[in-house]
Amino acid sequence: MATTITITGAGGQIGYALLFRIAAGDMLGQDEKVRLRLLEIPQGLKAAEGAALELQDCAFDLLESVEVTDDAATGFDSCNLALLVGARPRGPGMERADLLAANAGIFGPQGAAIAGSAASDVRVTVVGNPANTNALIAAASADGIPPERFTALTRLDENRARAQLAAALDAPVSAIRRVPIWGNHSATQFPDVTHATVDGRPVLEALAERVDDVEAWLEQTFIPRVAKRGAEIIEVRGSSSVASAANATIEHTRDWVHGTDDWTSAGVVSNGEYGVPAGLVSSFPVRSVDGRWQIVEGLELSAWARGRIDASVAELVAERDAVRALGVL
Ligand code: NAI
Repeated sequence: MATTITITGAGGQIGYALLFRIAAGDMLGQDEKVRLRLLEIPQGLKAAEGAALELQDCAFDLLESVEVTDDAATGFDSCNLALLVGARPRGPGMERADLLAANAGIFGPQGAAIAGSAASDVRVTVVGNPANTNALIAAASADGIPPERFTALTRLDENRARAQLAAALDAPVSAIRRVPIWGNHSATQFPDVTHATVDGRPVLEALAERVDDVEAWLEQTFIPRVAKRGAEIIEVRGSSSVASAANATIEHTRDWVHGTDDWTSAGVVSNGEYGVPAGLVSSFPVRSVDGRWQIVEGLELSAWARGRIDASVAELVAERDAVRALGVL
C-alpha cells in the first residue's frame, strides 16, 4: 500500500523541512510507501522542483513518486493526506481583514479542489496562517467531505508549552504530559497546565515548590513565552519557525493516522463542546482513536481558564464573522 500526500507551499521553508522527513518514514512509519504531490503557485514551482530533484537523490526506499504541479485538481488528485502549508503572509500595512480575504482566496478554492479530486478518506491538516480560520474556510468549501476531516495545527504550541514546563521544572520533556492548547493558534491561545503532570504528578504542585506565585508565573511568564515563541524565534534566528513547525505537522498527522495513548492538542471542528460555538475550528485537548480526533470532554475549568478560553474563542468568532462579511462562508 502507498499513501498519497499533497503538500501545498512545498517550495517554501516548512515544505523543505517536511518533505525529506515524510519520505524517510517519520510520519507514517517504515511500512508505508508514500507518493508525494508538491502543489505550488507558479512563483514557487522552481523551488519545489529543486526539492523534488533532491528527494530523488536521497533514493528513499519508501518514496514511490514525486509530482510537482501548480494545478490544484492535479495536486489533490486521489490524495489521502493534504498538508496545507502554503498561505499568504501578512504584508506591510496589511489589515487583518485583507489577510483573511487573501487567504480565503487560497483556502476556499483548495477546499473545493480537495472535494473534487481527493480520495474519499482524505484528511487535511492546515498549517498556513491564520490556520484555524483557513481550515474553517477550506471545510466550508469542500462539499461532501465531513468537516471533521479538516484540522488546524496547534501541536507546535503544545510542544513549546511542554518544553517550557520541562525547563522550569528541570525535568525531561518526555515526563510532561497533558498540556492542551485551547482556542486560536495566535497570541490569544491558552496553554493549559491545570491537568498537566510531570512524571505522573500534578505540574501545579511541582511548580509551587519552585515558583513563589504560580498564578503570576503562568500569567506573566509561561503563557506569554509560549504564545509569543514564534516572535522570539524570528528575533533570534532572523527567520520564522521552520523545522519545529514541520516536526509538529508530522506529529499531528502521525497521531491522527496512528492514534494517541494520551491527550494532545489539535484545532478541530467544535460541536459546541465547552461552549465553543459549533462549526468553529478551535484547539481542544483531543485524543485520536480509530483515525478520528475526539475532544476530551468533562474537564473542570476554573473561572480563570474559562476567561482565557472565551477570549481566544471570541477572536475565532471575529475571524469567522470577518470572513462571512466577505461572503465566503
Ligand atoms: P514560506 O513563505 O517559506 O513558504 C510558503 C510557500 O507557499 C511559498 O513557496 C509559496 O510560493 C507557497 N504558496 C503561497 N500560496 C500558495 C498557494 N495558493 N498554493 C500553493 N502554494 C502556495 O513560508 P513557511 O515558512 O513555509 O510558512 C508557511 C505557513 O506556515 C505560513 O503561513 C506560516 O505563518 C505558517 N506557520 C504555521 C505554524 C503553525 O503552528 N500553525 C507554525 C509556523 C508557520
